[in-house]
Amino acid sequence: MDDERLHEGPAGGARGGAEAVDEKRRKVVQWLWRLPVIAVAAGGGYGLYEAIRVHFRKLEAEAEPEFEARPATPVASLATFAAVWDSAEFELPSAAAGEPPTPALAVRLPGPVPGGIALDTGLNVASAYLAAFSRVCTHQQCIVSLNRDVTAINIGFNHQTDSPALTCACHLSVFDPRQGGKAVSGPAVRPLPRVRLEVRGDQLYATGIERA
Ligand code: FES
Repeated sequence: MDDERLHEGPAGGARGGAEAVDEKRRKVVQWLWRLPVIAVAAGGGYGLYEAIRVHFRKLEAEAEPEFEARPATPVASLATFAAVWDSAEFELPSAAAGEPPTPALAVRLPGPVPGGIALDTGLNVASAYLAAFSRVCTHQQCIVSLNRDVTAINIGFNHQTDSPALTCACHLSVFDPRQGGKAVSGPAVRPLPRVRLEVRGDQLYATGIERA
């Protein structure tokens, strides 16, 4: 071999070095074109995991919500809730100074939900069921609204229902206030936090929010 190298001289050594570099380049190129395939496979696996998590792991609202106290805040007069699905939006002050308030919404429901209140009323009915929810979507913190357009929920939000719901326009999550704010469609998994309500005279007050 020493003899061969002697015969190859400096030109032969350079050729061998160039071949080694070419071989390294070939290996790098082979890996480079595999990278998109690996990325697509990983993305597909993650997408499948998320789809399963989102569709089959939606959390129920707690049967007995635990509330964190907030400064008592007037929501609306009871007369505001004269009919089922009448609602009022309000802001619940933060517990800590300097933090923003929580947008929230109180709504009259057709039946009781945990964390809501039932009224024997002067609302021309035997009783009324009121509940309130944070309007901060549990997916990525957009603001949800009470959507009374059932057709829009069925088609636009791809959720079959026969009653109004709280909907988030950002990524089309739907929350059912009749189920304590449970996420029933879209990417959100956790229910909307409920807001504690109290009646003082003819006014509805908010006094706390469900712990996350
Ligand atoms: S932020 Fe509401 S669905 Fe994404």
